[in-house]
Amino acid sequence: MAQFIQLVEQDKKSIDDGLLAGLTAPQASTSPKYLYDALGSKLFEAICELPEYYPTRTEAGIFAKHAQEMAQAIGVGTTLIDLGAGNCAKAAKLFPHLQPAQYVPIDISVEFLRDAVSRLQQQFPAIDMIGVGMDFSMDLQLPESVRSEKRLFFYPGSSIGNFAPDEALTFLQQIKAACTQGGAADGGLLIGVDLVKENSILDAAYDDALGVTASFNLNLLLHLNRLLDADFDLREWRHRGFFNDKLSRIEMHLEAASDQTVRWPNGVRRFEHGERIHTENSYKYTHQSFISLLTEAGFEKVTTWTDPQQWFMVCHAHAA
Ligand code: AVI
Repeated sequence: MAQFIQLVEQDKKSIDDGLLAGLTAPQASTSPKYLYDALGSKLFEAICELPEYYPTRTEAGIFAKHAQEMAQAIGVGTTLIDLGAGNCAKAAKLFPHLQPAQYVPIDISVEFLRDAVSRLQQQFPAIDMIGVGMDFSMDLQLPESVRSEKRLFFYPGSSIGNFAPDEALTFLQQIKAACTQGGAADGGLLIGVDLVKENSILDAAYDDALGVTASFNLNLLLHLNRLLDADFDLREWRHRGFFNDKLSRIEMHLEAASDQTVRWPNGVRRFEHGERIHTENSYKYTHQSFISLLTEAGFEKVTTWTDPQQWFMVCHAHAA
C-alpha cells in the first residue's frame, strides 16, 4: 500500500509577512505561488489545453517520442522523485519504460496526491510509492523512507523557468546534493525546459485570445482577498503578459485600471492608474544557457531531446 507523509507547512504569519512586504513595496510584487489556490490550479490546467500554450503538448510529444531512449540513458530501478507531481500523469507514462523501484511524488499538500497515487499503486503494485507533502522550493530534505540509491529527480513542465536564474542555480545545486547524499551514486535529473523563440509565439502563450491566462492572473487577487481579508476589486485590474527580450523572460503583471486604494486589516495600499503588481516571471533558456546552468550546478553528461521546431527541451543529466 502507498505511504503518505506531510512535512511541516510554513506558518501563516511568515507567509503573510512576505506577501505584505511585496505588496507594499514601491514596485509591488507577489510570489507566483499565490497563483495556485484551488481555482488557480484548475485555471492552470485549462491553460495547458489552450492552442497558444505550446509547452505542455510540445513536452508531451518529446516524452512520447523519446521515452525509450531516455530509459536507456537513465537505466531501470531508480528512485523516481517527482517534483510538483499533481495528478502524477506525466511520471506514470514513463513507468513502463523507466521501471522505477520507488516512486516519490511530491506536492505542496499530500491531499493533492492521495487519489492519483492510490490509483497508480493498484495499477503498478511492484513499485513502492510514497506521496510526500512539502514545499520543495524551500527545502529538499526528504523523509528517511525515500531511498538514497539511484535518485532520479523528475521536474517537467518548465517550472524551473519560474525561478530567477540565481534561484534556479541554487535549486539545481540542492537537487544535485540530494542525489549524492551520503555518497549515493547513479543519481540524476530529468527536466523540461522552455526555449527562447519568436516573441509573437511567446506573447500569445501568456496572453491567449480566450483570456484564460488573464483569469489565472486575476484570480491571484481573489486569493489575496481571502488570505489577507483584503478588498481588491478585480474589475479594476488588467492582465499583462509579454516577453522581455533583454531578460529572456515572460513577465506577468496585474495593472491598475484606475487610481484606487486597497485595504486589509491593519494595512492599506494606494495604486495609481497604470501601476503594476509583478506576479510571475517565466525564464526562457537557450540549449546552451541551460546546459551551462546544469554544469555550474555540478551535473555532467547531459543528454537533450527536443521537438522539430526546437521550442522545448527535455534534459537528462548525471549528478557527478
Ligand atoms: C507552471 N509554469 C511552468 C507556467 C509557465 O509557463 O511559466 C505557469 C504559467 N503562467 C502563465 N501561464 C502558465
